[in-house]
Amino acid sequence: MGRSLGILWAEQGHQVFFGARTQEKGQQLAEQIGLNTQGGNNTEAAEFGDVLLYTIRGVNPAEILSTPDVLDSKVLIDCNNFEIPAEFAYEPVTYSLAETLADQVPNAKVVKAFNTMAQEVFELSPQPLDQHNVSVFLAGDDATAKKAVAQLAQEIGFNPIDCGPLRQARLLESLGDFIRLMIIGQGMGPYATLSVQTLPPANQARLGGRQSSNLKMQ
Ligand SMILES: NC(=O)c1ccc[n+]([C@@H]2O[C@H](COP(=O)([O-])OP(=O)(O)OC[C@H]3O[C@@H](n4cnc5c(N)ncnc54)[C@H](OP(=O)(O)O)[C@@H]3O)[C@@H](O)[C@H]2O)c1
Repeated sequence: MGRSLGILWAEQGHQVFFGARTQEKGQQLAEQIGLNTQGGNNTEAAEFGDVLLYTIRGVNPAEILSTPDVLDSKVLIDCNNFEIPAEFAYEPVTYSLAETLADQVPNAKVVKAFNTMAQEVFELSPQPLDQHNVSVFLAGDDATAKKAVAQLAQEIGFNPIDCGPLRQARLLESLGDFIRLMIIGQGMGPYATLSVQTLPPANQARLGGRQSSNLKMQ
């Protein structure tokens, strides 16, 4: 995920720094990719970026960064999904990986994103992906951070959809579980994705209409 999204954002002219556990691995990756990218260890990457993609599932940043407060006020994109359980016997997500990450680095602005498509979809970016209206679902508590991630998603051909506060990452991680069931478990393959569609309204109401409820619908 880091390599793919890093390449795409570098192609869009962003300054990209690849972090890894060893400085050599990060540097080698950047040399191999080119596009004016740089590479080094994870702490250097965290210091470098304004927006960081965190691909290290379930690991507290304090365990991998020599100075975790380097993440203070940074936008931290969490693309992680839980491991697939045996026979896709998923449990409901009652507390998301993204919320756990936000608890671990409370001064970072965590945005859940990019967890509902397989890496292969990025191969289509930005064209012809931009013709397919593929959703990138976003959840986060900081509006400015979400806006920045929405723009990054749009630049590489996706359709960003704001899903509300970070708590909604629980739903998005369940969507991540669902799409992997489709891709792997049900054999649809890695180009299966999830998007929301708004249909054109019906010309005529003939089914009795919606009953009144407490919930607001626009
Ligand atoms: N691949 C997909 O199609 C896809 C799609 C949507 C969401 N996701 C989610 O995105 C996340 C990353 O997936 P990925 O496919 O990019 O995985 P990956 O290729 O295994 O990359 C994860 C990176 O995490 C680092 N890492 C692993 N264990 C670590 C540890 N204990 N301490 C520090 N660093 C560690 C490794 O970095 P170094 O070895 O470089 O140090 C590795 O490059 C997962 O949560 C996955 O569920 C993946």
